[in-house]
Amino acid sequence: MKITSAEFVMSNAHVDKCPKELLPEYAFIGRSNVGKSSLINMLTAKKSLAKTSGRPGKTQLINHFKINANWFLVDLPGYGYARVSKKNKKTFQKYITDYFMKRTQLVCAFVLIDIRHEPQPIDIDFISWMGENQIPFCIVFTKADKLKPAIIAQHVAAYQLKLTEDIFEVAPEHFITSSSKHLGKEPLLEYIGGVNDKFFTATKV
Ligand code: GTP
Ligand code: MG
Repeated sequence: MKITSAEFVMSNAHVDKCPKELLPEYAFIGRSNVGKSSLINMLTAKKSLAKTSGRPGKTQLINHFKINANWFLVDLPGYGYARVSKKNKKTFQKYITDYFMKRTQLVCAFVLIDIRHEPQPIDIDFISWMGENQIPFCIVFTKADKLKPAIIAQHVAAYQLKLTEDIFEVAPEHFITSSSKHLGKEPLLEYIGGVNDKFFTATKV
């Protein structure tokens, strides 16, 4: 699947105000600074479509980007950003969870995980929450340019073990990416293309 157009549509603090069209959408979620906005820019080949920053907490709203005029990529604020006030942190959590609970257009979430670290409790908690609420998701490992291939394989295996030991019978589908090295773009776009095909076949009248 090729992306031929990508346009910013709107930013919202509330899921109720998001676009009303019944088009399939894919949301990027994960810790602040994990690389959600960078991945959207890599996939769309538009360097400044989603705003990125070296400092965590850059994305603070639900941002919709319309792709090829018939589906959406959604950039979300990160969870686990320690420097926002407690009150704000709760707001983040609520509109993130509201988004996932209420957004019927969501066909798949991509939960981003920094490949450099061993499984972190906050990510495991979030992934468990997605599983408990039956929200479809894949795991996307980011920043693969920072590690050697053998270490990447070890870290992925450790993650799969952790998830299948504690939460799932089968490890969730995963992708390995690097936005700075343009790694993992084709597999992700192929996956999205396949889900879109199913969506449009199922909704055809
Ligand atoms: P918030 O909006 O704050 O939640 O962060 P985010 O998850 O959207 O992260 P963002 O895309 O803004 O990237 C955070 C930092 O990580 C930036 O300095 C990026 O340049 C860097 N970064 C993102 N992806 C990669 C990657 O694949 N490799 C490397 N080396 N750095 C990356
Ligand atoms: Mg961001």
